[in-house]
Amino acid sequence: MKKILVTGGCGYIGSHTIVDLIQKGFDVISIDNFSRSNKKMLDGVRKITGKEIVNYEIDLCDFAATKKVFEENINISGIIHFAAYKAVGESVEQPLLYFRNNLISLINILECANEFKVPNFIFSSSCSVYGDVKTLPVNEETPLPEAASPYGRTKQIGEQIIFDTARACDTQFILLRYFNPVGAHPSVEIGELPIGKPSNLFPSVFYNALGKINELVVHGSDYETKDGSCIRDYIHVMDIAEAHSLSLLYLMNNKTSEKDTAKNNWNVEILNLGTGKGYTVLEVINAFERLSGEKLNYKLGDRRSGDVAAIYSDNKKAIEKLDWKNLRDLDEMILSAWRWTKKISESEV
Ligand code: WQD
Repeated sequence: MKKILVTGGCGYIGSHTIVDLIQKGFDVISIDNFSRSNKKMLDGVRKITGKEIVNYEIDLCDFAATKKVFEENINISGIIHFAAYKAVGESVEQPLLYFRNNLISLINILECANEFKVPNFIFSSSCSVYGDVKTLPVNEETPLPEAASPYGRTKQIGEQIIFDTARACDTQFILLRYFNPVGAHPSVEIGELPIGKPSNLFPSVFYNALGKINELVVHGSDYETKDGSCIRDYIHVMDIAEAHSLSLLYLMNNKTSEKDTAKNNWNVEILNLGTGKGYTVLEVINAFERLSGEKLNYKLGDRRSGDVAAIYSDNKKAIEKLDWKNLRDLDEMILSAWRWTKKISESEV
């Protein structure tokens, strides 16, 4: 079986991707220092797949520790690099924390991929690279404006680091630009585990419904959108996970665009992972109330710094290249995440 290294494997998207990789026949190891994740996720992965995942609890900003993992696993066929901090609001308050963590870890893992000749590398990028772009939907050729937050800027710089690295090595790369990952595995054994008070919309809605936060604030109601609240392209985490396995298979079975530095063309593909549909914050709130029968206590508040008014994807390239289909709808995203959040809330009691 081909061995895949998943960094951030105990995180939300990482754990769901490991489940799909195992079910597609890959052997998987993980690196995760639990700074933003919980080792309980590997228990959930084991309950779903029957597999015990080896996780190296090391900080990817420590090059020597990172290199040791490669010395102990010399036959890695692919790397999926999730490990990064990702809260837009936090990145505005602590930019250097984000630059250090997200960029040093990326440089270290790229150096190891190079030294140990790992042929395939998938980078967890983000729709936040598009900043406050006005022409929607965004496609992979959309010129990148100024990032709207330090988080988005770490992803823009990360992509540039990979483009330059790709010119100088034989590794093939796919940059996956996630839109808003939400939802949970249907088994209700894994899902999103916010640490402390959630900053993202979905967990904030559920926490308000469960009385864990007494008021849900809608960050901004005066944007130029259909109801004044922000628009995002929410996508089920299982669709994101499946796109990672399909991306690996794509790299292993195809050549990315042939390396031709004369035409400034090299072995890197960029793919948007979104549904192509945008929903406003108030539409998500209304959908949750309809599906759950719960009444939320929310108020219309001020805008949140780092937010853009609206963004949603043109996802045709990922659908065509990866044969990625049957994306799950908003109702399944809300219901699966709501089932998971209620379950972990009961077990906390
Ligand atoms: C969504 C909307 C908020 C909380 C996320 C990830 C980021 C990236 C993109 C992958 C915004 C509003 C939120 C609340 C609110 N994904 N909101 N009240 O900021 O789009 O970023 O997706 O890389 O990693 O964090 O997601 O869920 O924080 O916000 O009104 O209590 O919901 O203002 O308009 P965001 P989010």
